[in-house]
Amino acid sequence: MNDDAAARLPDPSDLFIVRGGNPLRGTVRLSGAKNSALKLMAASLLSEGRVELRAVPRIADVPVMAEVLRGLGVNVQLDPEAETATLEVDGEPRWHAPADAVTRIRASIACLGPLIGRTGRARMAMPGGDRIGARAIDLHLQGLTAMGASVIQHPGEVEVHAKDLHGAIVTLDFPSVGATENLIMAAARADGTTVIENAAREPEIQDLCRMLIAMGGSIDGIGSPTIEIEGVDRLSGVTWETCPDRIEAGTYAMAAAVTGGDVVIERVRPTELTLPLIKLRAAGVVVEEGADSLRIKAGDLDAADVVTLPYPGFPTDLQPQMMVLLTQAQGTSRCTENVFESRFSFVQELARMGADVEVDGHHAWIRGPSALHGTTLAGLDVRAGAAGTMAGLVASGETIVRDVHHVDRGYAEFVPRLQSLGADVERVPAGARDA
Ligand code: UD1
Repeated sequence: MNDDAAARLPDPSDLFIVRGGNPLRGTVRLSGAKNSALKLMAASLLSEGRVELRAVPRIADVPVMAEVLRGLGVNVQLDPEAETATLEVDGEPRWHAPADAVTRIRASIACLGPLIGRTGRARMAMPGGDRIGARAIDLHLQGLTAMGASVIQHPGEVEVHAKDLHGAIVTLDFPSVGATENLIMAAARADGTTVIENAAREPEIQDLCRMLIAMGGSIDGIGSPTIEIEGVDRLSGVTWETCPDRIEAGTYAMAAAVTGGDVVIERVRPTELTLPLIKLRAAGVVVEEGADSLRIKAGDLDAADVVTLPYPGFPTDLQPQMMVLLTQAQGTSRCTENVFESRFSFVQELARMGADVEVDGHHAWIRGPSALHGTTLAGLDVRAGAAGTMAGLVASGETIVRDVHHVDRGYAEFVPRLQSLGADVERVPAGARDA
């Protein structure tokens, strides 16, 4: 393993120790978006020149993605301090992705589309990531097949060949983020025009499209459900700044609100958080929007209903954090999860802290306010880990969050940033705690 990947791998046994009661106060400046940066890195496979990325978040998934790309022949240099990544393919990329790194993150699947677009073939293990649902890749493969690719399934691996990748009209069954991205990147180098109907519209996909255009690509309909991509012969190098992380911003906004705090969040696009901000206001939170900042002031929290949907719907990646907020609200709230079937596994953890939550299928009813008490939270995914930490900030006593390597995958400097806002939270090795 490369040095920078090894150096940045978090110790999986570390714990967060959270002592609740402190309202968050102050200013926090956030990172570039995880779900954009990883795809922008993958897009370097398409480039016949150097790709320089800025605002690359200091999260654990970035060096893992770098490892995947190095295995494919990309020369990757990361500078976590400067938040930059430089990526350059020497000649043609290799087509067989290394299984070890691929299986550790979901975003590794984003190499499939650019590899097909650039080399006409790819073989890779099924990707890893959070265990929050089935997370199939059938929509990715259906789209590539419509563009002339053939797919061979191996145990735990998929192999795709496309000698003459051509444009096609692809109508997705569901606006999948990953499938939309892969099809855009494959289509960027296909012969002719590809139209993706029922495309996902997430801001991170828009970021990817804009970078591809800066590389010489031709894409229309960015941010709409119909994206049209005209294939080009060559995509060149580019310098690009990753868009801000709206999920990270939403997490800090909810943490500020639930602790009764007053926090200014910088490096955020409030227009990309329209529905979460509507829901925070509905729940009694005072939200002041700047051009690239937000001020979140606590109010008396009221019940609110949220329904997760693809963008511009309420993001599934903010659902566990919103649920923590609603445990402190007066009345009964309802959360409906439409994107990932296993996302409610976090409810069990919240219930063990004293929350009153009832789940029926993809609905959860939260009766509040509940007095939460500290406990040990285990087996969480990236968003549930952040939400569990948030719950600890309002719980009585001490909350121990285990498996914090999940949180490291998506949140840069999570503990230091919370500490800078006055939270009583620390990160300790598991052994130090047992001693
Ligand atoms: C991305 C994000 C993740 C976010 C999600 C939805 C990354 C690395 N991850 O995940 O944080 O929660 O978007 O906003 O960017 N599906 C299929 N077949 C497919 C593809 C998807 O059935 O071929 C299903 C999935 O199982 C899931 C739903 O569609 O139930 C949404 O998945 P998708 O939008 O593709 O999410 P990801 O790209 O995996």
